[in-house]
Amino acid sequence: PSANIGVVGMAVMGSNLARNLASREGNTVAVYNRSPERTRTLVSEHPEAGFVPSESIADFAASLQKPRTAIIMVQAGAGTDAVINQLVDAFEPGDIIVDGGNALFTDTRRREAAVRETGIHFVGCGISGGEEGALNGPSLMPGGTAESYETLGPILRSIAAVAEGEPCVTHVGTDGAGHFVKMIHNGIEYADMQLIAEAYDLIRRGTGKSPAEIAEIFAEWNKGELESYLIEITAEVLRQVDADTQLPLVDVILDAAGAKGTGAWTVQTALDLGVPVSGIAEAVFARSVSSKLEQRAASRTLPGPDGFQVEDADGFVEDVRLALYASKIIAYSQGFDAIIAGAEQYGWDIKKGDIAAIWRAGCIIRARFLNRITEAYAEDPNLVALVTAPFFRDAVDTAQAAWRRVVVQAAQAGIPAPAFSSSLSYYDGLRAERLPAALIQGQRDFFGAHTYKRVDRDGVFHTDWSGDRTERSA
Ligand code: 6PG
Repeated sequence: PSANIGVVGMAVMGSNLARNLASREGNTVAVYNRSPERTRTLVSEHPEAGFVPSESIADFAASLQKPRTAIIMVQAGAGTDAVINQLVDAFEPGDIIVDGGNALFTDTRRREAAVRETGIHFVGCGISGGEEGALNGPSLMPGGTAESYETLGPILRSIAAVAEGEPCVTHVGTDGAGHFVKMIHNGIEYADMQLIAEAYDLIRRGTGKSPAEIAEIFAEWNKGELESYLIEITAEVLRQVDADTQLPLVDVILDAAGAKGTGAWTVQTALDLGVPVSGIAEAVFARSVSSKLEQRAASRTLPGPDGFQVEDADGFVEDVRLALYASKIIAYSQGFDAIIAGAEQYGWDIKKGDIAAIWRAGCIIRARFLNRITEAYAEDPNLVALVTAPFFRDAVDTAQAAWRRVVVQAAQAGIPAPAFSSSLSYYDGLRAERLPAALIQGQRDFFGAHTYKRVDRDGVFHTDWSGDRTERSA
C-alpha cells in the first residue's frame, strides 16, 4: 500500500480536497468514486498529483497504509451511510473513516456510535470554504475520538488554511462535535449574509445609489472593522454586470434565496436546546419569505409605505454600517451561545476561543473580528454572553444610536430588516431590568395553574384565579 490518505467521492469538493492533500509534502492520496469515469478524468487531468486510483472499495482499502484513513466527500444523507458501510466492511479496527460532508450532527453521533462497535474510528469533520477552500486551504472542524486525531490531526493541519501562522483546524470535541460546530458556522453564515443583504437594500432604497456604487461602499467597509470574506464577495457580486442585458447582475437574479438546510438545522437545534438564535432564525425565515413567490405576488398590493429617500446619504450609509456591525456581533454571540449549550448537552469540551481561531481563515465567515472573540474567551473562558465582553460591549455601545435609527427608518419606510431589528430586540431583551415574562407567568398560572416564582421569596406559588384569588404555595 502506498497511500497515507484516501478520498471517496470525486465531485468538486472531493476532488479539490484530494488535490489539496496531494499537493502537500509527504502525502500520497488514494482516490475512489462510485462511477470510475470521474476518477479516471481526475487522474488524467492531474498527473502532478500522483493519485493512487481505485475502481473498487476493496482495492481502495488495499492501497492505504495502516491505520487506514479515508475522507468521505459525498452528498450528505443516505449516500453517506452507504459509503460508510462499504468502508466498515473493507477496513479494520484502528482505521479511521472521516465524513467531510455537511452531515447533521445527530446523524454523525449515530454513525460514530455504530462504527465504534467495530473498533474503527468515525470522525465527522466540518469543512468550510467551498470549492476554493477545499483546494487551497479550508477551515476544518473534526470531531471523533482524541485518539483518531493523533493520526488525522497532522494530515488535516497540512491542508488547512493558515491564519497568522496557525492552521485552521482543531479537535473540536468527541463524536458529532465537529459537525455541530460546522452547523453553527453555517447558521452564523446565514445571519451574516442576511445582514449584509439588508444593509444593501436599505442603502439602495434609501439613497438611490446603484449596485456598482454600493459595491464601492462595501469595498471601503472591507478595510475596517467589518473586514470579512462575505463583505469582500458582496462587493464583487454587486459590481457584476449581466452580459445579456448590461444590467447589474443582482437585478436580473431571481430574488428567491435557496437553502440546503444547515441554517434550518441550526435553528431547529437551538430551539431544542432553548437557545435564542433569533438573528439566525430571521435569516432562515427571510430566505423562506423570498421563496414564497405566489404569496408575494398576491401580497404586492398590500398597503404600506414604499421606500424613502434619506437627506444625508453619507450619514445614513455610516449608520447602516454600524447597524450591520452591531447586528453581526449579536449573530456571533447567539451562535456561540448555541455552541456552549450544545457542548453542555452532549458533554463536549469545546474551547470557544479555539473555534473562533479556526474560523479566521479558510471558511465562509472568516472575518477580522474573530480575533476579538478568541481574546474575549481567553480573558474569560466562562463568559456568559459574548456581547458582554468589554470589546463587544463597547463596539455595540458605539453603534447603538445608529442601529436604532436604522431600525426605525426601515420600519417607517416599509423596508424589511428582520435581522437588524430582531438583533436589536434581542439586545434590548438581554439588557432589560424587567421583562414582561412576569405577565406571561401570570397568564400561564391563570389558565393552567402553571405556577410562578416570586422576586421576594423562595418557593413556587399559585393564585386561586377561579376562586377567591388568594395566593398559596404550590
Ligand atoms: C461552507 C459553506 C458550505 C455551503 C453551504 C451553503 O462553509 O463552505 O457553508 O457548507 O456553501 O451548504 O448552504 P446553503 O446552500 O444552505 O446556503
